[in-house]
Amino acid sequence: MAMFSPVLLLFPSLFLILIIQTTAQPNFPYQFCRNDKGNYTANSTYKANLNTLLSNLTSNTEIDYGFYNSSYGQNSDEVYAIGLCRGDVKPDDCRSCLNDTIVLLPEVCPNQKEAIAGYDNCMLRYSNRSLYGILETSPSFLAGNGANATDPDRFNQATRDLLDSLRSRAASGSSLRKYAAGNATGPNFQTIFALVQCTPDLSQQNCTDCLVGTFSDIAGSNILDKRGGRIIKPSCNFRYENSRFYDPTVDTQPPVSPPAPPPPSTNTTTKEEKKSNTSRTFIAIVVPIVACIVIFFFIFIYLRVKRKSWKNIKSEVDQDEIGSTESLQFDFGTISVATDNFSDSNKLGRGGFGAVYKGRLSNGQEIAVKRLSRESGQGDQEFKNEVLLVAKLQHRNLVRLLGFCLERSERLLIYEFVPNKSLDYLLFDPGKSAQLDWKRRYKIIGGIARGLLYLHEDSRLRIIHRDLKASNILLDADMNPKISDFGMARLFVLDQTQGNTSRIVGTYGYMAPEYAMHGYFSVKSDVYSFGVLVLEIVSGKKNTGFPFGQSVEDLISFAWKNWKDGTVSSLIDPAINGESRSEVMRCIHIGLLCVQENVTDRPTMASIMLMLNSYSTTLPVPSRACIVYA
Ligand SMILES: *[C@@H]1O[C@H](CO)[C@@H](O)[C@H](O)[C@H]1NC(C)=O
Ligand SMILES: *[C@@H]1O[C@H](CO)[C@@H](O)[C@H](O)[C@H]1NC(C)=O
Ligand SMILES: *[C@@H]1O[C@H](CO)[C@@H](O)[C@H](O)[C@H]1NC(C)=O
Ligand SMILES: *[C@@H]1O[C@H](CO)[C@@H](O)[C@H](O)[C@H]1NC(C)=O
Ligand SMILES: *[C@@H]1O[C@H](CO)[C@@H](O)[C@H](O)[C@H]1NC(C)=O
Ligand SMILES: *[C@@H]1O[C@H](CO)[C@@H](O)[C@H](O)[C@H]1NC(C)=O
Ligand SMILES: *[C@@H]1O[C@H](CO)[C@@H](O)[C@H](O)[C@H]1NC(C)=O
Ligand SMILES: *[C@@H]1O[C@H](CO)[C@@H](O)[C@H](O)[C@H]1NC(C)=O
Ligand SMILES: *[C@@H]1O[C@H](CO)[C@@H](O)[C@H](O)[C@H]1NC(C)=O
Ligand SMILES: *[C@@H]1O[C@H](CO)[C@@H](O)[C@H](O)[C@H]1NC(C)=O
Repeated sequence: MAMFSPVLLLFPSLFLILIIQTTAQPNFPYQFCRNDKGNYTANSTYKANLNTLLSNLTSNTEIDYGFYNSSYGQNSDEVYAIGLCRGDVKPDDCRSCLNDTIVLLPEVCPNQKEAIAGYDNCMLRYSNRSLYGILETSPSFLAGNGANATDPDRFNQATRDLLDSLRSRAASGSSLRKYAAGNATGPNFQTIFALVQCTPDLSQQNCTDCLVGTFSDIAGSNILDKRGGRIIKPSCNFRYENSRFYDPTVDTQPPVSPPAPPPPSTNTTTKEEKKSNTSRTFIAIVVPIVACIVIFFFIFIYLRVKRKSWKNIKSEVDQDEIGSTESLQFDFGTISVATDNFSDSNKLGRGGFGAVYKGRLSNGQEIAVKRLSRESGQGDQEFKNEVLLVAKLQHRNLVRLLGFCLERSERLLIYEFVPNKSLDYLLFDPGKSAQLDWKRRYKIIGGIARGLLYLHEDSRLRIIHRDLKASNILLDADMNPKISDFGMARLFVLDQTQGNTSRIVGTYGYMAPEYAMHGYFSVKSDVYSFGVLVLEIVSGKKNTGFPFGQSVEDLISFAWKNWKDGTVSSLIDPAINGESRSEVMRCIHIGLLCVQENVTDRPTMASIMLMLNSYSTTLPVPSRACIVYA
């Protein structure tokens, strides 16, 4: 908790980070031309369309809430653009900032189809693909400002708390504005001022994801410990300083009066043109009314949330949230129909705690249903409460828990359905493992690390997974990993307050020695399992052996032996041999750091993210160092 925050990701191969050294630069310019997204030529239609689009982008003066979205052109020459102003910037300043950017950007990026640029007050993006509603976290622009804080730990904690509270306010904003600004008191009574913003076209969840990831970036960067800093991404940004830099009179939400503007529609959006006059009149009447209702709704929710935050988590689940328990509760009949009465043909497999079935709800949504097989040892109400808490854990690298069903002796957990089966299915099958090239494997390692970091540090609950393994990593259609079966320890009474347990959940081969032998568990036992997974992903081999090195076949022992002999490259799966060697070797190194037997020598997930992320970090030397647990 003392750390600023876990560090995210930024895998050099997948993301771009641009670190801009500025010292209190008043108008912070940044720009980035995407050389990898295609070029246009000077006399092309694309170029002409781009000019038309940009010159018209801010021309609709009826839209003055600081977000412009439009497109122009046909087929492969269609250009899309988005303009965003900082939430507190007045309409005229907003247009003027965007005007400057519109002039600047095609000059600095003379032939790139996709580019992004901005100043303090605004950001402009364009591309030949639709940008609206898409979460985009790369490239990142980072900058630190000013001197080091005097008491960095407490300063970072205070900043983080402030950003977290602003994040939830911004994310719950409307589709017109997702922005929040505020201040907090840090160590030595210094005031910290911060603002956070997402593009308002993002969903609440995507805005949250973007900001969580962005805050995490700080820890890995050189702006950590500074009194001021900012990170700007295409979909979200934040900034904090030791003096006030935003206009405090502008509230999070657009003003209620005069009534909220009509939805953005410029003459350049070809699709919009077909609207009849009647529908325009209709919109002119209905939209302001709906907008007012929506705004009051958000104010109401905001007040409720604010009131609720005074209570602790436990009481929160009691009265206030009965409604949401209800909405998470599925009817047994519904699930029975959805899974064709739990037919064998719908059975996906057997995981820990019970069989899993595929189902389809009447609305067409696909689900996975886990039918819990044993007595959980807790009452119905406690079970409901725990489901409610676990369902709140939402991250793109976690399988989402949609709800539960509780009827007679049946306890069912209903999850989102993830299409591509589990990692072990692809990784350990010689016929299929070739589908996993190194780029994919590296993305999978990064995704698992992020999901685990969220469980350990970013979520309110601090969940230790305790059964992390290849078969618990599901892959979605884009091969993004999603961790499943987390939070199971909460849904069963497992003596968890002690930090040790007599009933061990877990799988040999992945279990840390102190957990397998003595039932001591901690976040570091998950780190051990993560290390095993990394070594499996690199080698394409399953760690089947008994985990303490008695077996020569054991992957971990094999890895240690090769480390000692300086031949770790013999671990690498022939299917990926030759690809990004330095990345592969670094992953082996990180894997070995995680499977060190000495618990305190294992890194935390936050430092693992840092290691994956930054090539300049020198890694410690792993040591097997057998220690005796008494
Ligand atoms: C954008 O342009 C690139 C390069 O010309 C092309 O590969 C890509 O398919 C285009 N995207 C769309 C959505 O047309
Ligand atoms: C686009 O042009 C830039 C230079 O202006 C070049 O570096 C880049 O490789 C080109 N990209 C493609 C896809 O041709
Ligand atoms: C653009 O101009 C070049 C010569 O400068 C010509 O070869 C090319 O065909 C032109 N392209 C278009 C789309 O007009
Ligand atoms: C908007 O674009 C149209 C082309 O469709 C152009 O004729 C018009 O002049 C533009 N309007 C402005 C204000 O630039
Ligand atoms: C934003 O622009 C895209 C592309 O033109 C369009 O499909 C979408 O409807 C627009 N959204 C709004 C809210 O105007
Ligand atoms: C922005 O540019 C447009 C046309 O390029 C112009 O009509 C408008 O007045 C400019 N707005 C500001 C605030 O400079
Ligand atoms: C969140 O972002 C992803 C990636 O851009 C997009 O596919 C998805 O539709 C977004 N979700 C929502 C609810 O808007
Ligand atoms: C600020 O802190 C960083 C480490 O957090 C350190 O490397 C740097 O030297 C410090 N700068 C000053 C001016 O103290
Ligand atoms: C800090 O924010 C509060 C509102 O949350 C405001 O009343 C106060 O004036 C702000 N302090 C400063 C120094 O701006
Ligand atoms: C948009 O089109 C309408 C007619 O359809 C026209 O009256 C108006 O001036 C146009 N606005 C802009 C900004 O071009």
